[in-house]
Amino acid sequence: MSTDTRGSWGSRFGFVLAAAGSAVGLGHIWRFPYVTGENGGAAFVILYILCVFMIGVPILFAELSLGRHSHKNPVGAIKAIAPTGVWKYLGYLGVATGLFILSYYTLIAGWTFGYIFKTLFQNPITFTEFSTNAPLNAFLYIIFLLMSIGVVYGGVQGGIERWSKILMPILPVILLFIIIYSLTLEGAMEGVRFYLRPDFSVITGETVMIALGQAFFANSLGMGAMITYGSYLNKNENIIAAGTIVVIFGIFISFLAGFAIFPAVFAMGQSPAAGPELVFVILPTIFELMPGGILIGTLFFLLLAIAALTSAISLLEVPVSFLIDERKMRRKVATWLVGGITLLFGIPSALSFGASDFFSNLPFWSGQSFFGMMDYIFGSIALPLGGMLFSIFVAWRWGLIGANKEISLGNASFLGIQSTVWGVIIKYICPIVIFGVFLYSTGIISL
Ligand code: PHE
Repeated sequence: MSTDTRGSWGSRFGFVLAAAGSAVGLGHIWRFPYVTGENGGAAFVILYILCVFMIGVPILFAELSLGRHSHKNPVGAIKAIAPTGVWKYLGYLGVATGLFILSYYTLIAGWTFGYIFKTLFQNPITFTEFSTNAPLNAFLYIIFLLMSIGVVYGGVQGGIERWSKILMPILPVILLFIIIYSLTLEGAMEGVRFYLRPDFSVITGETVMIALGQAFFANSLGMGAMITYGSYLNKNENIIAAGTIVVIFGIFISFLAGFAIFPAVFAMGQSPAAGPELVFVILPTIFELMPGGILIGTLFFLLLAIAALTSAISLLEVPVSFLIDERKMRRKVATWLVGGITLLFGIPSALSFGASDFFSNLPFWSGQSFFGMMDYIFGSIALPLGGMLFSIFVAWRWGLIGANKEISLGNASFLGIQSTVWGVIIKYICPIVIFGVFLYSTGIISL
Protein backbone atom coordinates (compact mmCIF):
# COMPACT_ATOMS: atom_id res chain seq x y z
CA MET A 1 0.00 0.00 0.00
CA SER A 2 1.42 3.39 -0.83
CA THR A 3 1.70 6.00 1.89
CA ASP A 4 -0.54 8.22 -0.18
CA THR A 5 -3.50 6.00 0.51
CA ARG A 6 -3.06 4.70 4.05
CA GLY A 7 -0.66 6.15 6.58
CA SER A 8 -0.05 5.78 10.28
CA TRP A 9 0.56 8.13 13.18
CA GLY A 10 4.06 9.48 13.71
CA SER A 11 4.06 9.02 17.47
CA ARG A 12 1.92 8.15 20.46
CA PHE A 13 1.57 11.80 21.36
CA GLY A 14 0.58 12.54 17.79
CA PHE A 15 -2.27 10.08 18.00
CA VAL A 16 -3.56 11.35 21.33
CA LEU A 17 -3.58 14.88 20.05
CA ALA A 18 -5.22 13.93 16.77
CA ALA A 19 -7.91 11.92 18.54
CA ALA A 20 -8.38 14.79 20.98
CA GLY A 21 -8.51 17.04 17.93
CA SER A 22 -11.33 14.97 16.48
CA ALA A 23 -13.17 14.84 19.78
CA VAL A 24 -12.69 18.39 20.98
CA GLY A 25 -14.50 20.77 18.72
CA LEU A 26 -17.78 22.55 18.34
CA GLY A 27 -19.34 19.64 20.21
CA HIS A 28 -17.81 20.86 23.45
CA ILE A 29 -17.79 24.59 23.04
CA TRP A 30 -20.88 25.23 20.95
CA ARG A 31 -23.13 22.14 21.26
CA PHE A 32 -22.55 21.27 24.91
CA PRO A 33 -23.61 24.69 26.26
CA TYR A 34 -26.55 24.89 23.89
CA VAL A 35 -28.03 21.47 24.73
CA THR A 36 -27.24 21.94 28.43
CA GLY A 37 -29.05 25.29 28.34
CA GLU A 38 -32.05 23.79 26.56
CA ASN A 39 -32.26 20.81 28.88
CA GLY A 40 -32.20 22.31 32.31
CA GLY A 41 -28.55 22.82 33.30
CA ALA A 42 -26.80 20.91 36.09
CA ALA A 43 -28.98 17.77 36.05
CA PHE A 44 -28.25 17.43 32.34
CA VAL A 45 -24.52 17.87 32.96
CA ILE A 46 -24.56 15.00 35.46
CA LEU A 47 -26.48 12.78 33.06
CA TYR A 48 -24.03 13.67 30.33
CA ILE A 49 -20.99 12.75 32.42
CA LEU A 50 -22.64 9.45 33.40
CA CYS A 51 -23.30 8.66 29.74
CA VAL A 52 -19.71 9.46 28.81
CA PHE A 53 -18.14 7.15 31.38
CA MET A 54 -20.70 4.37 31.42
CA ILE A 55 -21.33 4.12 27.67
CA GLY A 56 -18.97 6.40 25.75
CA VAL A 57 -15.62 5.25 27.12
CA PRO A 58 -16.26 1.49 26.67
CA ILE A 59 -17.48 2.12 23.12
CA LEU A 60 -14.41 4.23 22.44
CA PHE A 61 -12.20 1.26 23.35
CA ALA A 62 -14.33 -0.97 21.14
CA GLU A 63 -14.06 1.36 18.16
CA LEU A 64 -10.32 1.92 18.53
CA SER A 65 -9.59 -1.79 18.83
CA LEU A 66 -11.81 -2.63 15.88
CA GLY A 67 -10.02 -0.04 13.76
CA ARG A 68 -6.54 -1.13 14.74
CA HIS A 69 -7.39 -4.79 14.33
CA SER A 70 -8.37 -4.36 10.71
CA HIS A 71 -6.44 -1.22 9.72
CA LYS A 72 -9.54 -0.23 7.81
CA ASN A 73 -12.40 2.27 7.57
CA PRO A 74 -15.67 1.33 9.34
CA VAL A 75 -17.05 -0.66 6.41
CA GLY A 76 -13.76 -2.47 5.81
CA ALA A 77 -13.27 -3.11 9.53
CA ILE A 78 -16.64 -4.82 9.70
CA LYS A 79 -16.12 -6.76 6.50
CA ALA A 80 -12.75 -7.99 7.79
CA ILE A 81 -14.63 -9.78 10.57
CA ALA A 82 -17.99 -10.44 8.93
CA PRO A 83 -17.32 -10.64 5.16
CA THR A 84 -20.90 -11.51 4.29
CA GLY A 85 -24.28 -10.69 5.74
CA VAL A 86 -25.97 -7.53 6.91
CA TRP A 87 -23.29 -6.18 9.28
CA LYS A 88 -21.65 -4.15 6.55
CA TYR A 89 -24.67 -1.85 6.57
CA LEU A 90 -23.58 -0.72 10.02
CA GLY A 91 -20.42 0.56 8.35
CA TYR A 92 -22.51 2.36 5.74
CA LEU A 93 -24.60 3.91 8.50
CA GLY A 94 -21.40 5.32 9.98
CA VAL A 95 -20.18 6.67 6.67
CA ALA A 96 -23.54 8.33 5.97
CA THR A 97 -23.82 9.74 9.49
CA GLY A 98 -20.36 11.30 9.14
CA LEU A 99 -21.35 12.93 5.89
CA PHE A 100 -24.63 14.33 7.20
CA ILE A 101 -23.11 15.65 10.42
CA LEU A 102 -20.35 17.28 8.43
CA SER A 103 -22.94 19.02 6.27
CA TYR A 104 -24.27 21.11 9.15
CA TYR A 105 -21.11 21.07 11.25
CA THR A 106 -19.37 22.98 8.47
CA LEU A 107 -22.01 25.70 8.68
CA ILE A 108 -21.35 26.37 12.36
CA ALA A 109 -17.63 26.08 11.78
CA GLY A 110 -17.97 28.69 9.03
CA TRP A 111 -19.68 30.99 11.53
CA THR A 112 -16.77 30.69 13.95
CA PHE A 113 -14.49 31.60 11.09
CA GLY A 114 -16.62 34.64 10.26
CA TYR A 115 -16.69 35.65 13.91
CA ILE A 116 -12.90 35.86 13.99
CA PHE A 117 -13.12 38.84 11.67
CA LYS A 118 -16.30 40.22 13.18
CA THR A 119 -14.53 40.39 16.54
CA LEU A 120 -11.21 41.61 15.21
CA PHE A 121 -12.73 44.47 13.21
CA GLN A 122 -15.44 45.13 15.80
CA ASN A 123 -18.17 44.76 13.23
CA PRO A 124 -21.51 45.50 14.95
CA ILE A 125 -23.58 43.09 12.79
CA THR A 126 -26.07 41.16 14.96
CA PHE A 127 -26.37 37.39 14.96
CA THR A 128 -29.69 37.55 13.06
CA GLU A 129 -28.25 39.83 10.40
CA PHE A 130 -25.29 37.49 10.17
CA SER A 131 -27.20 34.22 9.98
CA THR A 132 -29.75 35.46 7.43
CA ASN A 133 -27.09 36.76 5.06
CA ALA A 134 -27.09 33.94 2.49
CA PRO A 135 -24.07 35.01 0.39
CA LEU A 136 -21.96 35.50 3.51
CA ASN A 137 -22.96 32.08 4.85
CA ALA A 138 -22.27 30.41 1.52
CA PHE A 139 -18.88 32.09 1.36
CA LEU A 140 -17.88 31.06 4.89
CA TYR A 141 -19.20 27.54 4.35
CA ILE A 142 -17.16 27.04 1.22
CA ILE A 143 -14.01 28.53 2.73
CA PHE A 144 -14.23 26.22 5.70
CA LEU A 145 -15.01 23.19 3.57
CA LEU A 146 -12.00 23.96 1.37
CA MET A 147 -9.78 24.16 4.44
CA SER A 148 -10.98 20.75 5.62
CA ILE A 149 -10.47 19.31 2.15
CA GLY A 150 -7.00 20.83 2.11
CA VAL A 151 -5.99 19.06 5.32
CA VAL A 152 -7.53 15.71 4.44
CA TYR A 153 -5.85 15.97 1.06
CA GLY A 154 -2.49 15.96 2.80
CA GLY A 155 -3.08 12.52 4.33
CA VAL A 156 -2.63 11.43 7.91
CA GLN A 157 0.70 12.72 9.14
CA GLY A 158 1.19 15.68 6.91
CA GLY A 159 -2.21 17.13 7.65
CA ILE A 160 -4.20 16.03 10.63
CA GLU A 161 -1.42 15.29 13.06
CA ARG A 162 0.59 18.45 12.49
CA TRP A 163 -2.36 20.77 12.96
CA SER A 164 -3.61 19.09 16.10
CA LYS A 165 -0.20 19.08 17.71
CA ILE A 166 0.35 22.77 17.44
CA LEU A 167 -3.01 24.12 18.42
CA MET A 168 -5.04 22.02 20.81
CA PRO A 169 -3.21 22.91 24.03
CA ILE A 170 -3.90 26.67 23.79
CA LEU A 171 -7.67 26.37 23.98
CA PRO A 172 -8.17 25.84 27.74
CA VAL A 173 -6.00 28.86 28.51
CA ILE A 174 -8.23 31.18 26.51
CA LEU A 175 -11.34 29.69 28.10
CA LEU A 176 -9.92 30.42 31.54
CA PHE A 177 -9.59 34.11 30.70
CA ILE A 178 -13.23 34.23 29.61
CA ILE A 179 -14.39 32.40 32.73
CA ILE A 180 -12.59 34.78 35.05
CA TYR A 181 -14.29 37.75 33.42
CA SER A 182 -17.66 36.05 33.13
CA LEU A 183 -17.66 35.32 36.86
CA THR A 184 -17.08 38.94 37.79
CA LEU A 185 -20.31 40.07 36.09
CA GLU A 186 -23.18 41.06 38.31
CA GLY A 187 -25.74 38.26 38.57
CA ALA A 188 -23.21 35.65 37.44
CA MET A 189 -23.90 33.44 40.46
CA GLU A 190 -27.35 32.60 39.20
CA GLY A 191 -25.69 31.10 36.13
CA VAL A 192 -23.29 29.14 38.30
CA ARG A 193 -26.28 27.73 40.21
CA PHE A 194 -28.04 26.80 36.97
CA TYR A 195 -24.89 25.05 35.83
CA LEU A 196 -23.91 23.30 39.05
CA ARG A 197 -26.99 22.79 41.22
CA PRO A 198 -29.07 19.95 39.74
CA ASP A 199 -32.85 19.93 39.56
CA PHE A 200 -33.75 16.41 38.50
CA SER A 201 -37.41 17.24 37.98
CA VAL A 202 -36.48 18.69 34.57
CA ILE A 203 -35.24 15.34 33.25
CA THR A 204 -37.48 13.67 30.65
CA GLY A 205 -36.97 10.75 28.28
CA GLU A 206 -35.95 13.15 25.57
CA THR A 207 -33.41 14.81 27.88
CA VAL A 208 -31.74 11.46 28.51
CA MET A 209 -31.65 10.77 24.76
CA ILE A 210 -30.02 14.13 24.11
CA ALA A 211 -27.46 13.62 26.92
CA LEU A 212 -26.56 10.25 25.44
CA GLY A 213 -26.36 11.74 21.95
CA GLN A 214 -24.08 14.48 23.25
CA ALA A 215 -21.80 11.88 24.86
CA PHE A 216 -21.41 10.30 21.43
CA PHE A 217 -21.17 13.55 19.50
CA ALA A 218 -18.56 15.14 21.73
CA ASN A 219 -16.35 12.06 21.73
CA SER A 220 -16.74 11.40 18.00
CA LEU A 221 -18.35 8.02 18.69
CA GLY A 222 -20.97 5.93 16.97
CA MET A 223 -20.06 6.61 13.35
CA GLY A 224 -16.63 5.10 13.03
CA ALA A 225 -14.39 8.16 13.31
CA MET A 226 -12.53 6.38 16.09
CA ILE A 227 -12.44 3.17 14.05
CA THR A 228 -10.79 5.11 11.28
CA TYR A 229 -8.38 6.89 13.65
CA GLY A 230 -7.66 3.58 15.41
CA SER A 231 -6.79 2.09 12.05
CA TYR A 232 -3.77 4.40 11.92
CA LEU A 233 -2.55 3.23 15.34
CA ASN A 234 0.48 1.03 15.82
CA LYS A 235 0.09 -2.30 17.59
CA ASN A 236 2.21 -1.29 20.56
CA GLU A 237 0.08 1.72 21.49
CA ASN A 238 -1.98 1.61 24.67
CA ILE A 239 -5.59 2.04 23.55
CA ILE A 240 -6.91 2.36 27.09
CA ALA A 241 -4.50 5.07 28.15
CA ALA A 242 -4.78 7.05 24.93
CA GLY A 243 -8.58 6.83 24.87
CA THR A 244 -8.96 7.84 28.50
CA ILE A 245 -6.76 10.90 28.11
CA VAL A 246 -8.85 12.05 25.15
CA VAL A 247 -12.16 11.69 26.99
CA ILE A 248 -10.95 13.46 30.12
CA PHE A 249 -9.50 16.33 28.14
CA GLY A 250 -12.85 16.67 26.37
CA ILE A 251 -14.88 16.75 29.57
CA PHE A 252 -12.51 19.36 30.94
CA ILE A 253 -13.00 21.58 27.87
CA SER A 254 -16.80 21.18 27.95
CA PHE A 255 -16.87 22.01 31.61
CA LEU A 256 -14.85 25.16 31.03
CA ALA A 257 -17.05 26.17 28.09
CA GLY A 258 -20.18 25.96 30.23
CA PHE A 259 -18.47 27.97 32.93
CA ALA A 260 -17.59 30.65 30.42
CA ILE A 261 -21.12 30.87 29.04
CA PHE A 262 -23.74 30.38 31.76
CA PRO A 263 -22.67 33.01 34.30
CA ALA A 264 -22.71 35.55 31.47
CA VAL A 265 -26.07 34.32 30.13
CA PHE A 266 -27.73 35.01 33.48
CA ALA A 267 -25.81 38.20 34.17
CA MET A 268 -27.10 39.55 30.86
CA GLY A 269 -30.65 38.45 31.56
CA GLN A 270 -30.69 36.13 28.54
CA SER A 271 -32.32 32.71 28.23
CA PRO A 272 -30.01 29.70 28.49
CA ALA A 273 -32.37 27.88 26.10
CA ALA A 274 -31.63 30.11 23.10
CA GLY A 275 -30.55 27.09 21.03
CA PRO A 276 -27.71 26.82 18.51
CA GLU A 277 -27.08 30.57 18.54
CA LEU A 278 -26.38 30.69 22.30
CA VAL A 279 -22.60 30.89 22.05
CA PHE A 280 -22.72 33.28 19.10
CA VAL A 281 -24.98 35.72 20.93
CA ILE A 282 -23.42 35.61 24.40
CA LEU A 283 -19.70 35.47 23.73
CA PRO A 284 -19.47 38.50 21.43
CA THR A 285 -21.22 40.55 24.11
CA ILE A 286 -18.64 39.38 26.66
CA PHE A 287 -15.83 40.30 24.31
CA GLU A 288 -17.27 43.78 23.78
CA LEU A 289 -17.33 44.41 27.51
CA MET A 290 -14.23 42.72 28.87
CA PRO A 291 -10.84 44.41 28.96
CA GLY A 292 -8.72 43.08 26.12
CA GLY A 293 -11.89 41.58 24.67
CA ILE A 294 -10.95 42.20 21.06
CA LEU A 295 -7.73 40.29 21.37
CA ILE A 296 -9.14 37.49 23.51
CA GLY A 297 -12.29 37.23 21.40
CA THR A 298 -10.37 37.09 18.14
CA LEU A 299 -8.05 34.46 19.54
CA PHE A 300 -11.00 32.51 20.93
CA PHE A 301 -12.85 32.30 17.62
CA LEU A 302 -9.60 31.51 15.84
CA LEU A 303 -8.95 28.58 18.16
CA LEU A 304 -12.56 27.46 17.97
CA ALA A 305 -12.38 27.49 14.18
CA ILE A 306 -9.23 25.40 14.37
CA ALA A 307 -10.77 22.99 16.90
CA ALA A 308 -13.73 22.71 14.52
CA LEU A 309 -11.34 22.05 11.66
CA THR A 310 -9.60 19.16 13.42
CA SER A 311 -13.05 17.66 14.10
CA ALA A 312 -14.41 18.33 10.62
CA ILE A 313 -11.47 16.55 9.07
CA SER A 314 -12.26 13.45 11.12
CA LEU A 315 -15.86 13.55 9.90
CA LEU A 316 -14.58 13.92 6.35
CA GLU A 317 -11.91 11.26 6.78
CA VAL A 318 -14.49 8.51 7.44
CA PRO A 319 -16.27 8.64 4.05
CA VAL A 320 -12.96 9.41 2.34
CA SER A 321 -11.13 6.42 3.82
CA PHE A 322 -14.16 4.30 2.92
CA LEU A 323 -13.92 5.36 -0.72
CA ILE A 324 -10.15 4.80 -0.75
CA ASP A 325 -10.23 1.34 0.82
CA GLU A 326 -13.48 -0.06 -0.52
CA ARG A 327 -13.95 1.72 -3.82
CA LYS A 328 -10.23 2.00 -4.64
CA MET A 329 -10.53 5.72 -5.26
CA ARG A 330 -7.55 8.02 -5.09
CA ARG A 331 -7.45 10.17 -1.95
CA LYS A 332 -7.78 13.38 -3.90
CA VAL A 333 -10.77 12.26 -5.93
CA ALA A 334 -12.50 10.84 -2.87
CA THR A 335 -11.96 14.04 -0.88
CA TRP A 336 -13.46 16.26 -3.57
CA LEU A 337 -16.40 13.94 -4.06
CA VAL A 338 -17.31 13.86 -0.38
CA GLY A 339 -16.80 17.62 -0.14
CA GLY A 340 -19.25 18.15 -3.00
CA ILE A 341 -21.97 16.00 -1.42
CA THR A 342 -21.46 17.77 1.92
CA LEU A 343 -22.01 21.14 0.30
CA LEU A 344 -25.23 19.95 -1.29
CA PHE A 345 -26.72 18.96 2.07
CA GLY A 346 -25.28 22.01 3.75
CA ILE A 347 -27.41 24.43 1.72
CA PRO A 348 -30.77 23.76 3.45
CA SER A 349 -29.03 23.91 6.84
CA ALA A 350 -27.53 27.27 5.95
CA LEU A 351 -31.01 28.53 5.06
CA SER A 352 -32.38 27.36 8.42
CA PHE A 353 -31.67 30.47 10.42
CA GLY A 354 -34.20 32.80 8.89
CA ALA A 355 -32.93 33.04 5.31
CA SER A 356 -35.68 30.68 4.08
CA ASP A 357 -39.02 30.46 5.81
CA PHE A 358 -39.53 26.88 4.76
CA PHE A 359 -36.20 25.54 6.03
CA SER A 360 -36.40 27.67 9.18
CA ASN A 361 -39.80 26.26 10.18
CA LEU A 362 -40.34 22.84 8.65
CA PRO A 363 -44.09 22.16 8.56
CA PHE A 364 -43.53 18.40 8.83
CA TRP A 365 -41.07 18.69 11.76
CA SER A 366 -43.24 20.60 14.24
CA GLY A 367 -42.01 23.93 12.96
CA GLN A 368 -38.37 23.28 13.81
CA SER A 369 -35.60 24.13 11.38
CA PHE A 370 -33.97 21.81 8.89
CA PHE A 371 -30.77 22.34 10.85
CA GLY A 372 -32.49 21.34 14.09
CA MET A 373 -33.89 18.25 12.42
CA MET A 374 -30.48 17.18 11.10
CA ASP A 375 -28.76 17.73 14.44
CA TYR A 376 -31.47 15.76 16.21
CA ILE A 377 -31.59 12.85 13.77
CA PHE A 378 -27.85 12.47 13.27
CA GLY A 379 -26.34 14.03 16.40
CA SER A 380 -28.81 12.66 18.94
CA ILE A 381 -30.24 9.47 17.34
CA ALA A 382 -27.94 8.05 14.65
CA LEU A 383 -24.78 8.19 16.79
CA PRO A 384 -26.20 6.28 19.79
CA LEU A 385 -27.83 3.86 17.36
CA GLY A 386 -24.50 3.28 15.63
CA GLY A 387 -22.80 2.95 19.03
CA MET A 388 -25.30 0.36 20.17
CA LEU A 389 -24.76 -1.68 17.01
CA PHE A 390 -20.96 -1.35 17.25
CA SER A 391 -21.03 -2.67 20.81
CA ILE A 392 -23.21 -5.61 19.73
CA PHE A 393 -20.95 -6.25 16.78
CA VAL A 394 -17.75 -6.23 18.83
CA ALA A 395 -19.09 -8.28 21.75
CA TRP A 396 -21.30 -10.77 19.94
CA ARG A 397 -19.99 -11.06 16.39
CA TRP A 398 -16.27 -10.37 16.65
CA GLY A 399 -16.21 -11.78 20.19
CA LEU A 400 -14.58 -10.55 23.36
CA ILE A 401 -11.62 -12.92 22.99
CA GLY A 402 -10.51 -11.22 19.79
CA ALA A 403 -11.23 -7.75 21.09
CA ASN A 404 -9.41 -8.38 24.38
CA LYS A 405 -6.40 -9.66 22.52
CA GLU A 406 -6.29 -6.56 20.37
CA ILE A 407 -6.59 -4.17 23.31
CA SER A 408 -3.99 -6.05 25.36
CA LEU A 409 -1.34 -5.50 22.68
CA GLY A 410 0.36 -2.46 24.12
CA ASN A 411 -1.36 -2.93 27.49
CA ALA A 412 -0.81 -6.40 28.94
CA SER A 413 -2.44 -5.55 32.28
CA PHE A 414 -5.79 -5.20 30.49
CA LEU A 415 -6.31 -8.96 30.45
CA GLY A 416 -7.18 -9.19 34.15
CA ILE A 417 -10.13 -7.61 35.86
CA GLN A 418 -10.23 -4.66 33.43
CA SER A 419 -11.15 -6.84 30.49
CA THR A 420 -13.86 -8.59 32.51
CA VAL A 421 -15.47 -5.29 33.49
CA TRP A 422 -15.18 -3.92 29.98
CA GLY A 423 -16.58 -7.17 28.58
CA VAL A 424 -19.70 -7.03 30.73
CA ILE A 425 -20.29 -3.39 29.85
CA ILE A 426 -19.82 -3.77 26.12
CA LYS A 427 -21.72 -7.04 25.88
CA TYR A 428 -24.73 -6.25 28.07
CA ILE A 429 -24.81 -2.79 29.56
CA CYS A 430 -24.19 -0.70 26.45
CA PRO A 431 -26.76 -2.42 24.19
CA ILE A 432 -29.40 -2.66 26.91
CA VAL A 433 -29.00 0.86 28.25
CA ILE A 434 -28.94 2.48 24.81
CA PHE A 435 -31.94 0.48 23.70
CA GLY A 436 -33.68 1.40 26.95
CA VAL A 437 -32.98 5.08 26.37
CA PHE A 438 -34.52 4.80 22.89
CA LEU A 439 -37.68 3.29 24.33
CA TYR A 440 -37.75 5.75 27.21
CA SER A 441 -37.36 8.76 24.93
CA THR A 442 -40.19 7.66 22.70
CA GLY A 443 -42.41 7.17 25.74
CA ILE A 444 -42.72 3.40 25.19
CA ILE A 445 -41.36 2.84 28.68
CA SER A 446 -41.48 5.31 31.55
CA LEU A 447 -39.83 5.40 34.94
N1 PHE B 1 -16.57 15.37 18.35
C1 PHE B 1 -16.65 16.45 17.43
C2 PHE B 1 -16.91 17.72 18.20
O1 PHE B 1 -17.15 17.68 19.38
C3 PHE B 1 -17.68 16.23 16.37
C4 PHE B 1 -17.63 14.88 15.78
C5 PHE B 1 -18.70 14.01 15.90
C6 PHE B 1 -16.50 14.48 15.08
C7 PHE B 1 -18.65 12.73 15.37
C8 PHE B 1 -16.43 13.19 14.54
C9 PHE B 1 -17.50 12.33 14.70
O2 PHE B 1 -16.94 18.78 17.69
